[in-house]
Amino acid sequence: MVKIVEIRIAKGSDIEAYTRLLQKTYQKTYTNNKLGLTKNCFSRAVFATKASQDYLKSNLRQNTNQKTWLAFIDSKLVGSITITNKGDDCELKGFYVASEMQGKGIGKELFQRALRFARGKDIVLDLYVHNRKTIAMYKKWGFKIDKKKGIFYRHWPEWPEGLRAKCLYMRLSKWTSQQ
Ligand SMILES: CC(C)(COP(=O)(O)OP(=O)(O)OC[C@H]1O[C@@H](n2cnc3c(N)ncnc32)[C@H](O)[C@@H]1OP(=O)(O)O)[C@@H](O)C(=O)NCCC(=O)NCCS
Repeated sequence: MVKIVEIRIAKGSDIEAYTRLLQKTYQKTYTNNKLGLTKNCFSRAVFATKASQDYLKSNLRQNTNQKTWLAFIDSKLVGSITITNKGDDCELKGFYVASEMQGKGIGKELFQRALRFARGKDIVLDLYVHNRKTIAMYKKWGFKIDKKKGIFYRHWPEWPEGLRAKCLYMRLSKWTSQQ
């Protein structure tokens, strides 16, 4: 764990820094020219649209069914995680650590918060099939690919027409969790 990481609950006023963190990290992680996912698909302009901003703001909204934690180093936002209670399961989303800070334990610290919030419920998430490194990480953490739910294709309204990216679901079952 790197030193001086402050973790706190997100606020509405974090929207600017949160947008920037996710935009940069999405662009770095998901750009794949072979799949047609160019840098432009994750540009600042794409993250500034009303649809994108509405999604990002909804992640910063805190209530009994949803919590977002943010990690800071020297007041700079470097990580985020959102967990939402969906009833039977909890959904994990918005899990991002700034590229230059990855692999130093910040993600694990954030994940522990989400795990405590889930209190024994299954944790489910979806992610891009080409995000192989993170799929491997989740497997190491006890998640399994949810074959029953199968795959789906995601299209952002800001992307060129017809461009779709393949996604899968993963699940951390409360019965098999090693955490
Ligand atoms: C996924 C992510 C949030 C994890 O945060 P992080 O700070 O890098 O994670 P940590 O440093 O706590 O590492 C967690 C574990 O993953 C492993 N890990 C981290 N980066 C890794 C990498 N690039 N390749 C393989 N394993 C990796 C670590 O060794 C560690 O293993 P351990 O649990 O045995 O200790 C971060 O890497 C990230 O933002 N990735 C890109 C975006 C993304 O894929 N987000 C998830 C969307 S669903």
